[in-house]
Amino acid sequence: MNYILTYMILIVGGAGYIGAHINKQLNINGYETIVFDNLSYGHEDFIKWGTFECGDLGNINDIRSVFKKYPVTAVMHFAAFTYVGESVEDPQKYYRNNVCNTINLLQVMLEFDVKKLVFSSTCATYGDPVEIPITEQHPQNPISPYGRGKLMVENILSDYSRAYNLHYVSLRYFNAAGADPNSEIGELHDPETHLIPLILDAASGKRQSIKIFGTDYNTPDGTCIRDYIHVTDLADAHLKALQYLENGGKSDYFNLGNGNGFSVREVIEKSREITRKEIKAVEDKRRPGDPPVLVGSSDKIRKILRWEPKYDDLSLIIQTAWKWHEKRETD
Ligand code: UFG
Repeated sequence: MNYILTYMILIVGGAGYIGAHINKQLNINGYETIVFDNLSYGHEDFIKWGTFECGDLGNINDIRSVFKKYPVTAVMHFAAFTYVGESVEDPQKYYRNNVCNTINLLQVMLEFDVKKLVFSSTCATYGDPVEIPITEQHPQNPISPYGRGKLMVENILSDYSRAYNLHYVSLRYFNAAGADPNSEIGELHDPETHLIPLILDAASGKRQSIKIFGTDYNTPDGTCIRDYIHVTDLADAHLKALQYLENGGKSDYFNLGNGNGFSVREVIEKSREITRKEIKAVEDKRRPGDPPVLVGSSDKIRKILRWEPKYDDLSLIIQTAWKWHEKRETD
């Protein structure tokens, strides 16, 4: 096969919520993409761009056959389990997939001399914050196997970078939210545990109400505060990280948030305004493992990658999520 384009990006886990938005962004910007996904949590109908290769990171030959077939120039890695609570119940599942399978991917990248990687990390690597906003210098003391596994991979990448000249960027996401502004793809998990999709389910009548997990936190309205970042801004940051590596940038890690926090009550209230639905909220006990406030500083990524969020307003995040939610209901 002859390929005219120089850049061919392998998107591992490209059928998931975040991977699919990045797949779209890369294609809009002239990249060729290969989506590699085992569809265990991903959605086949989210693969609207690029070429799909069904395979499992747990099977190293699946990975090898993709690298044999396509002249991959860089990899973006999103294939991870992301339920913090489940990681406490079943750590083996998380370490095997999120850590061991990432080592498989890295092994094949090295075998095929592919040395550029954008890795999907998380603010969960910081654990309970001792300072807000959280900068990249904040100590990393994760409190769940999910967060610990992601930090292990960050450390592995740092060692591989030194030993094998791998160039990587780790992006530590805060709360990814919202949907593609053209409603081609959106946020969908099974089971759904994330605040905004659950609120919108309550708005559309799919659920009776939304539970507020904890109303006695030391925050202005007693509920947890999170830094919501629009998934399209997140996708743009990945594009910038990739271009940075293509231009010879050195391995680095960045927070990816807006630097603004919103409480659970504020998110519910804003959703009522946007959807014009009542949205019944029920106060419930705290969810174990939830830090009261998670807000990140995005100064570093703004400065070094020149990333600027375009949807850094909670209304835009909820509006795009709601538009997609409504479209799905009618499709
Ligand atoms: N919440 C509710 N009711 C719900 C669901 C969530 O009150 O039904 C609250 C949570 O307690 C939390 C906030 O809404 O305070 C946001 O919860 P999400 O589950 O949407 O997101 P998290 O902050 O728990 O999780 C995100 C990412 C994880 C990452 C974690 C880091 O989705 O991948 O941040 O702490 F690990």
